[in-house]
Amino acid sequence: MTDLVLSDLTRSYGATNAIDNINITVGAGEFLTLLGPSGCGKSTTLAAIAGLDQPTHGRISFAGRTLFDAASKTSLPPEARGFGVVFQSYALWPHMTVDDNVGLSLRLRKVAAPERNRRVGEALDLVGLTAYAKRYPGELSGGQQQRVALARAVVFRPALLLLDEPLSNLDAQLRQEARIWLKSIQRELGLTAIYVTHDQEEALSMSDRIVVMRGGHIIQMGTPQDIYERPVHPFSASFIGSANLITGGSVSEVFGGQAAIAFGDGQVLRGHAPLPVHPGSPALVAVRPQNIQPTEGADENRLLVRFGAANYLGDRFEQEAFLGECRLRLQTIRPAPEGQGAIWIDHADALIFPLDDRAKDKTR
Ligand SMILES: Nc1ncnc2c1ncn2[C@@H]1O[C@H](COP(=O)(O)OP(=O)(O)OP(=O)(O)O)[C@@H](O)[C@H]1O
Ligand SMILES: [Mg+2]
Repeated sequence: MTDLVLSDLTRSYGATNAIDNINITVGAGEFLTLLGPSGCGKSTTLAAIAGLDQPTHGRISFAGRTLFDAASKTSLPPEARGFGVVFQSYALWPHMTVDDNVGLSLRLRKVAAPERNRRVGEALDLVGLTAYAKRYPGELSGGQQQRVALARAVVFRPALLLLDEPLSNLDAQLRQEARIWLKSIQRELGLTAIYVTHDQEEALSMSDRIVVMRGGHIIQMGTPQDIYERPVHPFSASFIGSANLITGGSVSEVFGGQAAIAFGDGQVLRGHAPLPVHPGSPALVAVRPQNIQPTEGADENRLLVRFGAANYLGDRFEQEAFLGECRLRLQTIRPAPEGQGAIWIDHADALIFPLDDRAKDKTR
């Protein structure tokens, strides 16, 4: 079942587009994440859905109801949309106790006191803060305040939950716990959720689907497995999974979904080509650090490199290798000695992409 539809959504600031012709359909009960680097348009998209900002073009509908339509100048105010919103800054009222903060939206909706108290109690129970009901925000830790913000967003049982980097103020361990906890609340309440983050692990572990964004555009949309295992753009491969992008080669051969890329020094690498590539045209190879192995054998898909020093990280080593001008990062359990050597890349792990203007733009 479809819940939220964003159609041709554009938000311009003067000559620049914060988001540029965004189309996304979100299913009921789905956990969808907008993932991308700073400034790519995540918060702009979320603010448009919440009704806190007006796009320049496009339409937004929810459960069949039009929330926004630039052409007919229709825009429901945030309170009429009735979505639960959690921002990076928790924005709790400092002079109100935890239970009053959580109950405020119900008070504004004129829910009678007994029902209000029952629902606030339920929400605080859900986030594990029953014992903190009479404290003030200033008397809570960052993680606890974040839970209050979430209780406040779910207490009126919104049909849609909008979360903009809600865990970014937590330390690494709390953050990991909060992911699991937040996801279980979303499932338990059957909420549709749109989650904004620039943290790839958060996106991979929590989402039903991920929208990878860059420069106001959607680069790729799919399940976490789609995005990680089958990137369709060098930007997806480098942003999610930290792939090395090896430039400086051109396509020497194309066969089915496979291709070979030749570098200036005559070395050749074979790989998988998710997009059409053409012999003679410039291309790049995306390969993850853990998929590059130092080798002493004479295998196919072997490239001569110069190794840098290896850093010990406990369960693995991190090492640099230089292929001409190109710096590669390797993760390996068996580092190579510094100096001249060779690496091996399984052809299934080498993704060959055309280096067109669009790819150049997205890899900067
Ligand atoms: N009021 C504004 N005036 C001009 N430009 C703006 C305004 N608000 C946002 N932008 C621009 O729109 C682009 C997208 O901003 P947005 O806040 O959506 O990014 P984001 O993906 O949420 O980034 P972050 O991860 O840093 O929060 C940015 O380039 C930003 O500078
Ligand atoms: Mg933002």
